Amino acid sequence: MKKVYVTRRIPQPALDLLEAECCLEVNPHDRVLGREELLEAASDAEGLLCLLTDQVDADLLDQMPRLKIVANCAVGFDNIDIPACTTRGVAVSNTPGVLTETTADMAWALLMTAARKVVEADRYVRDGKFKAWAPMLFLGQEVNHRVLGVIGMGRIGRAVARRASGFNMGVVYHDASRLTPEEERQLGVEYRDLKDLLQEADYISLHVPLNDQTRHLIGAQELKLMKKSAYLVNTSRGPVIDEKALVRALTNNDLAGAALDVYENEPELAPGLVELDNVTLAPHIASATVQTRTKMAVMAAENLLAGLKGEKIPNLVNKELKL
Ligand code: GLV
Repeated sequence: MKKVYVTRRIPQPALDLLEAECCLEVNPHDRVLGREELLEAASDAEGLLCLLTDQVDADLLDQMPRLKIVANCAVGFDNIDIPACTTRGVAVSNTPGVLTETTADMAWALLMTAARKVVEADRYVRDGKFKAWAPMLFLGQEVNHRVLGVIGMGRIGRAVARRASGFNMGVVYHDASRLTPEEERQLGVEYRDLKDLLQEADYISLHVPLNDQTRHLIGAQELKLMKKSAYLVNTSRGPVIDEKALVRALTNNDLAGAALDVYENEPELAPGLVELDNVTLAPHIASATVQTRTKMAVMAAENLLAGLKGEKIPNLVNKELKL
């Protein structure tokens, strides 16, 4: 049986699938493995089921000569050097689709939490400070009837945009490629240049993949363009925002607040971020529901098994690979 290594414990249904057909090994520790540890356990594996916390680069690949497929248990694959995999004949797969609605839900949860000061309010009640209703207590910002700006109009961006109609919001979007007029009409969204979107939106939510075009897409200049009353939500990838510039902008109240699920150097936070009151912080949990994490793991396992058997890999990323 072919050896498969799973870099972290994942939901059991995925492990059961792999176990039935492979010689399965799973990282026994509840933490990310270092390079040495990973290689010690997995250098002879033919399949690697990994997570976004694992860096798959040329150095690792060169030390895993039997590897046929890297099945990432995530939709984003910026942790994997795709050209390095392709030149070595290693297939890469991801888990698109199954986490779309879940991630959109979380973007909205963060948006609402920031706008209505839910975290501060919770702390206030727990601290025993709630003595009486007060007319000026925790005044937040209106969400309904305001303008949502979606940057990145792929699957998740669209799911976020669709939810806005329930709040009677206007939605503007920016993307490297524009939707068709029919798609724009169906979603009720209007296209804007990035600069115009930044100036117009009351809430901005990021849904781009991380690549050379999107790294630091939101930097000091872009933050300056935002309304002072606006909020920035990020459930995509941390490096899409220049986090140090964001700390400066939040400190200067150039924008009203931010709500972040992802960070530029995860799990590190930019200096000063944690001291700010106008930011809501979550530990990269946008797809973290029992249902979705199970679907992602099963999908990754199915991709991996297909790759090992030489079958068509359902969610192949490096389609240029000659299999
Ligand atoms: C999570 O961040 C993912 O890319 O699936």
